[in-house]
Amino acid sequence: MNKILEVTDLSVEFKKDKKPFFAVKNVSFSVEEGETIGLAGESGCGKSTLSRAILGIQKKGVTGKINHFSKRPMMVFQDPEGSLNPAKTIGFILEEPLKIKGGMTKEQRKAKVLEMLKLVDLSEDLLDRLPSTLSGGQCQRVCIAAALMQEPKLLIADEPVSALDVTVQSQILKLFEKIKKELKLSVIFISHDLRVIYSLCDRVMIMKDGEIVEQGDKETLYFHPQHEYTKQLMEAAKTKYVKKD
Ligand SMILES: Nc1ncnc2c1ncn2[C@@H]1O[C@H](COP(=O)(O)OP(=O)(O)OP(=O)(O)O)[C@@H](O)[C@H]1O
Ligand SMILES: [Mg+2]
Repeated sequence: MNKILEVTDLSVEFKKDKKPFFAVKNVSFSVEEGETIGLAGESGCGKSTLSRAILGIQKKGVTGKINHFSKRPMMVFQDPEGSLNPAKTIGFILEEPLKIKGGMTKEQRKAKVLEMLKLVDLSEDLLDRLPSTLSGGQCQRVCIAAALMQEPKLLIADEPVSALDVTVQSQILKLFEKIKKELKLSVIFISHDLRVIYSLCDRVMIMKDGEIVEQGDKETLYFHPQHEYTKQLMEAAKTKYVKKD
């Protein structure tokens, strides 16, 4: 298998109360072509900081090695509407990356936008509308389509379904299943919801206080966790909806 990403000994240092503080500590992992890797851990453990460092959005305080073996890795965020320019129509938003890339005629760009809309199951009627007139789920489909416009091989999805209600969540998760299969995409899928991660991912990493405490294939990690923290998370996930009399 081909590697898409290799991260070695990555740390990100911030200052907290004027003291150095590591939001990410000595993280190493790699992602293979077509693989979906889940990143789970409680709020503030460093998931978003790690993904921003991988994409080069966070540069300050970053040490270690990040090797990308693909061009244009893209990111999808938690707040779909907030990630879209409120003043531009969906058609404009989807076409823009193609204009920037260049080398396509207007007709070719239009065809590509329609192809992408179809892939994310959105209707053409949305092209003339503004983000504020779309539902959260529709906005997230637009964000996914916009990211895919650049034909990335690696997509980092940072809590892409957390802001959506449960039915819409499962529709968007189905969409992730579909695009990762059809496009042979590698995905780093970030969520604090272990059930969501289980449904989508091949491998899983558990993060705590900036460190990856355990990583492995999903079945092993879920059913034979080694690290005390992973065990706690799995127990908590199991008991979440058990009725107490
Ligand atoms: N630019 C920054 N400057 C200083 N500290 C930061 C900065 N960005 C993040 N942090 C801190 O780094 C830690 C990790 O934050 P991060 O946003 O990566 O967590 P997270 O795992 O994504 O949390 P959540 O699940 O809530 O999204 C937190 O303590 C946060 O306050
Ligand atoms: Mg985050």
